[in-house]
Amino acid sequence: MHPVLLTRRIPAAVLARLQAACDVDLYDGPAPIARDELKKRLSGKRALICLLTDRIDGSVIETAPDLAIVANIAVGYDNIDVPSVKARGVVVTNTPDVLTEATAELTWALILAVTRRIGEGERLVRRGEWRGWALDFMLGMEVRGKQLGLIGRGRIGRAVAAKAAAFGMTPVFAKHDMSLDELLVSSDVVSIHTPGTPQTRHMIDRRALARMKRSAFLVNTARGTIVDEDALVWALGEHLIAGAALDVFEKEPVVHPGLLTLENVVLVPHLGSATRETRTAMADLAVSNVLAVLDGRPPLTPV
Ligand code: DGY
Repeated sequence: MHPVLLTRRIPAAVLARLQAACDVDLYDGPAPIARDELKKRLSGKRALICLLTDRIDGSVIETAPDLAIVANIAVGYDNIDVPSVKARGVVVTNTPDVLTEATAELTWALILAVTRRIGEGERLVRRGEWRGWALDFMLGMEVRGKQLGLIGRGRIGRAVAAKAAAFGMTPVFAKHDMSLDELLVSSDVVSIHTPGTPQTRHMIDRRALARMKRSAFLVNTARGTIVDEDALVWALGEHLIAGAALDVFEKEPVVHPGLLTLENVVLVPHLGSATRETRTAMADLAVSNVLAVLDGRPPLTPV
């Protein structure tokens, strides 16, 4: 049986499918696998199933000359140095499609949470500070009739747009319907759905934030690196935008301290794909990729 390293426990039925075909070395520690441990355990393996919290580069791969595949349980693969892994003849796969709807749903949850001040209201109730209904109390922004500016027209961006009609919002895509600049200037909610790459790093910087309407909200469920968090804290402090909702952060799990104290910011811990259904499907797809490659078949979802 082929030796496989799995850096995190996956749902039991999926694990059983992998174990039926492979000799699985399961890392089951409380935190992401440490780099030295990863290198040590990868030695002699034919496949690696890893997470976005595992940094995979040439020096990791070097320890496993027989490695055939790195299967990331994520659609994003900014944790993998793809050129150097592929240069060693190793296949890289990700998990597209299966998490599209879950991530689009979370995006809508964040849009509604930040525009209707859900987090702020909940914190107030829990603190015991609610003094009762009042006509002018904690007013938010209605999304109906507003423009939803989407940066990224991949699967997730399109799935978010597809739900816009239900809320009466008009979706527009940067680079397709208008330039990024025009989108920033005219949108009421700006939502990011582009991959985290060197090219998109700090795409939303001081300049971009200053272009947005003072009444607009920024939502990010893609990658934290796309937003310059220092610039975001500055823009929120200067009231250049009305609020932000973030599922992803520049230095996860560390959150910029300037964001933690702001009431008009919704912060959630990278939950885009976090449903039982989707996480099971993601693990299942990663396992299918491994089994295909180890069986001499093409991967289902190569990067
Ligand atoms: C991904 O798959 O890239 C997501 O960020 C995980 O939630």
